[in-house]
Amino acid sequence: MTHGKINNLLKEKPIALELRKVGKVFRSDTGPKLRALENVNLRVLQGEFVTLVGATGCGKTTLLNLIAGLDTADEGNLCLGQGLRFGDNIAHVFQHYTLFPWRTVVSNVSFGLQMRSVPRSERQARAAKLLASVGLEGFEDAYPHELSGGMRQRAAIAQALAIEPKLLLMDEPFGAVDDSTRNELQEMLTNLWQENQATILFVTHNIDEAIVLGDRVLVFSERPGRIAREFKIDLPRPRDRMAKEFTDLFIRIRTALSGQLD
Ligand SMILES: Nc1ncnc2c1ncn2[C@@H]1O[C@H](COP(=O)(O)OP(=O)(O)OP(=O)(O)O)[C@@H](O)[C@H]1O
Ligand SMILES: [Mg+2]
Repeated sequence: MTHGKINNLLKEKPIALELRKVGKVFRSDTGPKLRALENVNLRVLQGEFVTLVGATGCGKTTLLNLIAGLDTADEGNLCLGQGLRFGDNIAHVFQHYTLFPWRTVVSNVSFGLQMRSVPRSERQARAAKLLASVGLEGFEDAYPHELSGGMRQRAAIAQALAIEPKLLLMDEPFGAVDDSTRNELQEMLTNLWQENQATILFVTHNIDEAIVLGDRVLVFSERPGRIAREFKIDLPRPRDRMAKEFTDLFIRIRTALSGQLD
């Protein structure tokens, strides 16, 4: 039976991304080779919001880079769902934000549209709308160095969303902001995700953030990284951090992360 038929029978959404037994080894001329990822199996459905937590150095960024096509896997297969293409409808928000310092905020946000030959007036209109939705109205003509860290993150998110991505890869995008800004950005991202119905793969160190945002939380093992545990988050949004189900999940995920049995 084909994948399509199985999907119909199960009334499942189509697959956005599938990884089978993916492995990655870094080799250098001077040092020993380093196995970053081993036997990573992952299936993400279209429209899913999947969060990924794991210790520093376990291979999270490496995994996103493989999915984004910035690097290649040494083992296994990586398949993108129908209609998903690198350089077209996959966007990446990097761990360290990557705005062009010589471009204003609005021209950073509209850069991807310029590359796709979208006419100037449409670019400006779309960028202005996005900047309003991430709370950067009035900062269109500012340069990145004139923004705070949280504002730069917002601009980077607007930049990623400008191309209306079907798949959004986010690598600790809220890592460098204070707690209240982080909560605000989480709420904003949840709303944008619900409006745009994109598939999101979101890396974080923060268990609370992983539960607030995700339909599923994947827990990575220490290096070589692989998916050690998966937790389905069946809580209504917006999520109540004080709910017993939330705190129970928090403890279970923290236990899984520390490598203890649950
Ligand atoms: N280009 C590279 N060349 C050699 N080794 C690399 C390269 N990129 C990553 N590594 C190594 O692979 C391992 C995984 O790195 P990666 O950046 O994926 O971790 P991470 O889980 O994203 O960590 P963090 O939470 O600190 O961002 C690390 O040991 C790192 O040193
Ligand atoms: Mg990383």
